[in-house]
Amino acid sequence: MPLANRYEKGALQGYNCWLNTSSTSVSTMVTIHTRNLVLRDFEDDDWRDVHEYATDPEVSKYMEWGPNTEKETRNFVKMACAFRRQDPRRNYEFGIFLPTEKKIIGGCGLTIYDSDMYQAALGYTLNRNYWNRGIVTEAAGALLRYGFEKLALHRINATCDVQNIGSAAVMRKLGMRQEAHFLEERKIKGTWRDTYLYAILGSEWKKMRNEKRLEV
Ligand SMILES: CC(C)(COP(=O)(O)OP(=O)(O)OC[C@H]1O[C@@H](n2cnc3c(N)ncnc32)[C@H](O)[C@@H]1OP(=O)(O)O)[C@@H](O)C(=O)NCCC(=O)NCCS
Repeated sequence: MPLANRYEKGALQGYNCWLNTSSTSVSTMVTIHTRNLVLRDFEDDDWRDVHEYATDPEVSKYMEWGPNTEKETRNFVKMACAFRRQDPRRNYEFGIFLPTEKKIIGGCGLTIYDSDMYQAALGYTLNRNYWNRGIVTEAAGALLRYGFEKLALHRINATCDVQNIGSAAVMRKLGMRQEAHFLEERKIKGTWRDTYLYAILGSEWKKMRNEKRLEV
């Protein structure tokens, strides 16, 4: 069955999807509720919250982007908003919304880079004021669930700079395995950097969940 048909039909428990219809387009908005967070498609007005962390050099230290200009942040949010009009959808870039502060405090996403093989890449970024509270583990854990249960993905992987200890820790907490250490794979802020590749199969994730070995 083509991926599009597999994931556009119906909604699983725990996710809310709704159709936002205008005269020119039909787009599917996604919201995912977790214990403390709401992951949702970006909206144009989110750019200010995004800019707060996108201008922080510590946040983008291991990233190919940043620190952002206002134009770069606005363009990113515009692009993320446009993803929900893809048909079939390949990019899921969500804002991490903290209901207690009514604020977008980060972003996370799945990019389906091979739809025939049901494979996606996971990514995430968090405002530094909220680091080390378990937020990305909670958000990325919900994305793995969304990817495997709702999008019927076979495998999800993610990469991080070898010095990005926090990101590697998040992946291990999610049950992802380190599969590779790539030498000088990316040029970040003018310097060639090594990266780790982590991955998890849908079958591994389901087994861990059934055995209650996953916190999220
Ligand atoms: C890396 C990042 C996503 C971690 O998010 P977070 O919400 O702070 O992570 P969590 O609180 O869920 O932490 C998960 C685990 O990682 C550990 N951890 C997080 N940041 C850490 C750090 N800088 N150093 C060491 N351990 C760290 C936590 O202690 C926790 O382990 P524990 O439960 O055993 O204590 C966040 O620091 C961030 O957004 N950094 C900038 C952007 C970035 O690097 N994104 C990833 C690109 S690959």
